Amino acid sequence: MLRLNSTPNPSNAFNKRPFDKNRILGGSTFLVTFLMMILIGTVVCLRNVEFFSSRDLSGKQSSVRGATVTDDSDKSTESERGEDRTSMIPSSTIPSDFTNAVSQLAMTDKDLDWDDTIFQHFESDNDPVVLESHKLLFFTVPKNSCTEWKQLFRRMMGYEDWNKPPFLHPHDPRTNGLSYLGTYDKDKQEEFMTSPEWTRAIFIRDPLERMLSAYLNKGLSEERYIKKWCCKISPKETEEERQSELEYLEKTNPSCVPLAPWETQPNVDTFTFETFVNEFMLQCNDKHWRPQSQRMYPNNWKFLNFIGRMENLHEDAKKLLQKIGAWDEFGSNGWGKYENMSMFERARSDSTNTHSKDRFAQFYTPELKKKALEYLKGDYQNKYLNFTLPDDVDESSI
Ligand SMILES: *[C@@H]1O[C@H](CO)[C@@H](O)[C@H](O)[C@H]1NC(C)=O
Ligand SMILES: *[C@@H]1O[C@H](CO)[C@@H](O)[C@H](O)[C@H]1NC(C)=O
Repeated sequence: MLRLNSTPNPSNAFNKRPFDKNRILGGSTFLVTFLMMILIGTVVCLRNVEFFSSRDLSGKQSSVRGATVTDDSDKSTESERGEDRTSMIPSSTIPSDFTNAVSQLAMTDKDLDWDDTIFQHFESDNDPVVLESHKLLFFTVPKNSCTEWKQLFRRMMGYEDWNKPPFLHPHDPRTNGLSYLGTYDKDKQEEFMTSPEWTRAIFIRDPLERMLSAYLNKGLSEERYIKKWCCKISPKETEEERQSELEYLEKTNPSCVPLAPWETQPNVDTFTFETFVNEFMLQCNDKHWRPQSQRMYPNNWKFLNFIGRMENLHEDAKKLLQKIGAWDEFGSNGWGKYENMSMFERARSDSTNTHSKDRFAQFYTPELKKKALEYLKGDYQNKYLNFTLPDDVDESSI
């Protein structure tokens, strides 16, 4: 049963704590938390694990490095793909007054959950981007236009190649020159996360639409990503090798079979949305479809003071940039192929797509929607995300 606007479900695996903090009093909380972070950090580093990395189908962490995954995953950007910019849900269903409506209470570091991986810097960009010049902390979310955001931040930092190759895909934290929260000391982290002078922003997207978009992009058009990271399919020399790969997948990961061998081009009939939702997604925990509510630990959401919606991308981005005093200089001009557009201006024209509702209905049968909502229920339970269930879904049926 789905409870809206309730506190996040404590049985969620993501919420698991190594200890009960309430039992530890006063100053020792700090020390213990700090030591736990180091311990967790060490274990995590040794295993080459990071929160937004790909995992293999057996549930074990993939041994690939996070940064490599990121590079590969974003080879073609959202910006270049029409379907990603297209709102598949009629905009009338979207609450328009949500942006920036999260109340700002006086909070201290005691309310911060320091165990959260947002405070640690891995080789992938799970920790938020810091712009000290504009007092901005920005939580990127895969599939939510994170390419353009990083371009913007590089531009704001004065990199002249912000819109030139190779920085059209500025995802590698080792080379993109961006600042990340995990590289600062604890005092600074606390300041950025709690100071009323700072803006802490995230852009979120309707969960069902994001899942469909993940399927269309990562499942079909950029399918090499999932072949590689979810299925461990690779190019083979001989027919024999291809055959044995197929047999292996049949035994171990049946939902990967439609994607083999490497040269196969899956389509909506051979690798169906149904397979994706019912089997594939559940076995491959990936940042492109993982619920957005897992972007940070439940107790840290309340520190955000700007929540933008992908469905209102142009308007909300403008609001955010105006709030931090960066719109005129960096947002209002210089974007697009001819450098004569404002940021996300193209998204505005795309959102008028009249076929989007049809397409949504075409993929989401009632059963599939139910299954998808089960997977995504954490997003609907998170009161800061403030998503509303589709009209035709009965809360109690989930
Ligand atoms: C959440 O969304 C509803 C509309 O669905 C809106 O009326 C409400 O103001 C929103 N809450 C916040 C905190 O923005
Ligand atoms: C930008 O420039 C191109 C090429 O000169 C032109 O076709 C287009 O209409 C311009 N767009 C805007 C928004 O001015």
